[in-house]
Amino acid sequence: MRKKVTKAIFPVAGMGTRFLPATKSVPKEIMTLVDRPLVQYAIDEARAAGIKEFIFVTSRGKGALEDYFDHAPQLEQELRKKGKTELLETLKSTNMESGAIAYIRQHKALGLGHAVWCARRLIGNEPFAVMLPDDVIAAEKPCLQQMVEAYAETGGNMVAAMEVAPENISSYGVLDISEEEGQLVKVKGMVEKPEAAKAPSNLAVIGRYILSPSVLQNLNQMKSGSGGEIQLTDAIAKDIEQDNNVYGFRFRGKRFDCGSKSGFLQATVSFGLAREELRDDLRSYLRSISLDENA
Ligand code: UTP
Repeated sequence: MRKKVTKAIFPVAGMGTRFLPATKSVPKEIMTLVDRPLVQYAIDEARAAGIKEFIFVTSRGKGALEDYFDHAPQLEQELRKKGKTELLETLKSTNMESGAIAYIRQHKALGLGHAVWCARRLIGNEPFAVMLPDDVIAAEKPCLQQMVEAYAETGGNMVAAMEVAPENISSYGVLDISEEEGQLVKVKGMVEKPEAAKAPSNLAVIGRYILSPSVLQNLNQMKSGSGGEIQLTDAIAKDIEQDNNVYGFRFRGKRFDCGSKSGFLQATVSFGLAREELRDDLRSYLRSISLDENA
């Protein structure tokens, strides 16, 4: 019987420089998409996939992120007194049980691979998920849940994959594919941030992974890779050399890169339009500005 994936690592120790000056005092993951911080979307997706333990790799200045998960008894009491039951339920759905959430410090931003490695003692010898909260995925069935279901059949390592235009491919980890079967591709290599001309395919890795503990052992031996950082991609690729399987999973859904300003704005519009109470207003506003280019 394959072990269930019940732990997820959320690496959130990056500096979020693309959102300066906001990220001077607000962690990127707390920035709000409609009315919920990015991290809440990731937590909800993880829960839907059966994750029970949530491990955050943080850094200096991320206090607001830790506070976000605290219960708010005063606020709850106030809402109860005022009979605002709907808001009370919304608030309660953000509460985390004691012990379900852990914070580990990454003392220096040495890369995503290093951030994941920092959580190794809390993972132990079992498969685990990695989720980057700045990749927000709108999907009928949450992306990680799709992956956990596929993983139950395949085992090995699995990365979420999507097709990317040639002009953008050098921003991603890219898959070298050996076989394709439906949503799954078997991977024979991975390259972090290749030049467009040298990219082995147009299938890029985005921020959802299910990894076996051997990847943590690979990270133990890693030196810095592309951009002087310790790359998670390199540690996963190393597993292929050791005859462990790596699969790319073409998830169903739309991914927004909320680590970039343009992606964040697009997500805001899209998630706004998905909300019944906002849809009409927002749609008529968008129509009015598309008619008036000076707006
Ligand atoms: P990014 O490449 O988006 O970097 O990291 P960043 O610092 O968050 O943002 P910019 O580029 O400066 O605007 C991808 C993910 O990996 C985490 C980040 O927090 C983000 O979730 N990360 C990156 C770490 O946890 N530690 C690192 O050393 C690097």
